[in-house]
Amino acid sequence: MTDVLEVKALEAGYGPSQVLFGPSLSVEAGEVVSLMGRNGMGKSTLIRCIMGLLPVRAGEIHLFRNRINGWPSNRIARLGVGLIPEGRQIFRLLNVEENLLATARMSPGCKWTPDSVYELFPILQERALQPAITLSGGEQQMLSIGRALLTNPSLLIFDEATEGLAPLARRQIWECIKRLKQAGLSILLIDKNLAELLELASRHYILDKGEVVWSGSSAALAADSALAQTYLGL
Ligand SMILES: Nc1ncnc2c1ncn2[C@@H]1O[C@H](COP(=O)(O)OP(=O)(O)OP(=O)(O)O)[C@@H](O)[C@H]1O
Ligand SMILES: [Mg+2]
Repeated sequence: MTDVLEVKALEAGYGPSQVLFGPSLSVEAGEVVSLMGRNGMGKSTLIRCIMGLLPVRAGEIHLFRNRINGWPSNRIARLGVGLIPEGRQIFRLLNVEENLLATARMSPGCKWTPDSVYELFPILQERALQPAITLSGGEQQMLSIGRALLTNPSLLIFDEATEGLAPLARRQIWECIKRLKQAGLSILLIDKNLAELLELASRHYILDKGEVVWSGSSAALAADSALAQTYLGL
């Protein structure tokens, strides 16, 4: 079993419709792993299961060596997993600082404090007292990342963090993820930008209709252009 995340033969869905048909994946300590696939293939559904937001129907999820099937989401989060959710999900009417502190988990000597988040994203300090709704898309994404970091996680999951952002904002987010990787965090990255994923992640999984249809290294993925065409529509 890996130390960080292990998903085994997972099945889940919504009401009568099954979405996940047995995908397995793992993330090791300090590793950046990508999860790819076209729209509607089940990526966010798999993340919801890991975070305890959707019940698992079959299979197993192990997080930091705990079998977390059936655990409530707050207990899972406390193990040290932070999610940057699809669509950012910031508290729009709270100001930036209130957003950062809303779910913060800080202990004496912990790495992430409001100050270290402001150091990573200086613009958030400038905007600290502004309602989050007044931020640009890129700034809102920084806020979503900062909020996840303030839970002081060991594993970070990014669900399409660069989606819908202008090129400059997108680059800033990639730069931030690179720094978090260098800081030793384990990262599961869902995104559709193949070039950046090839550079940042060491291993990749492709999800198609709720199944892992391919997994392998960056070199193997880069060498097989048919793969990206077939399963990612690139
Ligand atoms: N709350 C829900 N209720 C019912 N069906 C849902 C719900 N959320 C997602 N689905 C369905 O489950 C399937 C997988 O959706 P999911 O959001 O996991 O895909 P995804 O791979 O994250 O796609 P995208 O790249 O667009 O984010 C889709 O067919 C979707 O319509
Ligand atoms: Mg999704």
